[in-house]
Amino acid sequence: MRDGFYITSAIYYVNDVPHIGHTYEIVACDVLARYHRLAGERVWFLTGTDEHSQNVAKAAEERGLTPQAWTDQILPARREVFAQLLISYDDFIRTSEPRHVDGVQRFLSKLHEGDDVYLGTYEGPYCVSCEEFKAEAELVDGRCPIHLIPVEQLSEENYFFRLSRYQEPLLRLYQEAPEFVGPAVRRNEVVSFVQAGLRDLSISRAAAIWGVPIPWDPSHITYVWVDALLNYATAVGYGEEPERFASIWPADVHMIGKDITRFHAVIWPAMLMAAGVPLPERVFAHGFLTVGGEKMSKSRGTGIAPADLIQRFGVDGLRYAFLREFTFGQDGNFSVESLDARYTSELANGLGNLASRVLAMTDSYFDGLVPEPRSREPGGSLATGAAAMAARYDAGMRAIELHEAAAALDEFVRESNRFVVGVAPWVLAKDPARRQDLADGLYESLEALRLAALFASPIMPGAAERLWGQLGLEGRVIDAHLPDAGTWGGLQPGTPTRRGESLFPRLEE
Ligand code: MSP
Repeated sequence: MRDGFYITSAIYYVNDVPHIGHTYEIVACDVLARYHRLAGERVWFLTGTDEHSQNVAKAAEERGLTPQAWTDQILPARREVFAQLLISYDDFIRTSEPRHVDGVQRFLSKLHEGDDVYLGTYEGPYCVSCEEFKAEAELVDGRCPIHLIPVEQLSEENYFFRLSRYQEPLLRLYQEAPEFVGPAVRRNEVVSFVQAGLRDLSISRAAAIWGVPIPWDPSHITYVWVDALLNYATAVGYGEEPERFASIWPADVHMIGKDITRFHAVIWPAMLMAAGVPLPERVFAHGFLTVGGEKMSKSRGTGIAPADLIQRFGVDGLRYAFLREFTFGQDGNFSVESLDARYTSELANGLGNLASRVLAMTDSYFDGLVPEPRSREPGGSLATGAAAMAARYDAGMRAIELHEAAAALDEFVRESNRFVVGVAPWVLAKDPARRQDLADGLYESLEALRLAALFASPIMPGAAERLWGQLGLEGRVIDAHLPDAGTWGGLQPGTPTRRGESLFPRLEE
């Protein structure tokens, strides 16, 4: 029986140093994984590397290394970036691992036995950077329309997958499960593409040397996209561990960028249908980040290094900005100026300021102890605000409108800051007759901070954990679960709070 939440990111080509476009995706996956854990679900979060590309083989050769030695050498840097970003993946698969290679071979044998594979001849253009067979009509002056590099003209004997057979079943799928491809703009593109008719897909390359050998004909290597897509299944035990596979598969969300939608929303479900494997619930294609309106690229100098941004905004600031700056699913233009402004207004002056002043007043007026309010029932305005935030946040996460979840949190922090100004504890503190009103106002503000920390934790795990500690709460926020932890009144009167370092230091000029 399956009762969990299985989320995957795309697996990354190992050749490039990751730029912020790549980290945008993995942070989005991590936020979703952390939220589903917070909601008490059994989460499995997979990421990894796509290593069998011809570009990897070429780069290795240039360095006089085997592709395996080259990937082994560059992988630690990739994983280091993920560690810096606090990515809480449960498994990291490399397509060069035996568990993957074996799974791919089993899967292909299954397709072969089922008469979904035949030997044919492929003639036509191929872009090495996309690792994709192109149609003549797509080319621009003989070049790949995406990479603007000349394509190779291939003419070789290949094994083909009968993708054309799956046109009708795929159209039925999009019809019956409209959530299968999201957002809607991508779904519409996919439907039109499939309606126009599908060609069979070449799934092997005769010339390649680095990849998974076709099990019944090892002179061929598996086409790298077929190999790569299968990571989602091989990593959770496809073929080798049927019980484990059944307990995790199918994926709830394959998170990908829009450039690779066809592979995931057309080829992948067709492959699974052919092998009799259940289909994933959703493929969600996020937008692309651009810099100055241009595609990010190392060669054009627009590939911003995540490390530079972490240095300026902290990992939490960067993660927050990714979610809050862009409408998830659409493209977004990335600008450091815009991040500066948002960091200052929403983190330094927003959540950071709320925490520092409420904790400072708790120190001054109640010796740092959480005051006893008249009532801990959810009657006040912030309790109502917190419930509204939790509902909007949850809806945003479940609809993969991640910007909505971040906006809900920000809205609640603003409301809490307004509340503090309205209560004006500094005025109440001068009047001993209003001691209980002071206690009520501060209790409500501290409880709002506790809930802000809880709902901030998927987005800003580091800052949320620090705030949780400053509020004197037991354990770690990462171990807290909804709905209990989200219930108003959880903060115990008398708990010693600890003013600490500022959560979001002001930016330097
Ligand atoms: N290896 C393939 C994916 C195989 S999945 C079975 C691949 N790798 S990639 O390293 O080029 O890209 C990894 C992910 O990053 C993809 O989902 C891609 O869409 C995403 N992005 C690459 N550049 C991006 C931006 N500029 N902005 C946002 N996401 C971007 O494709």
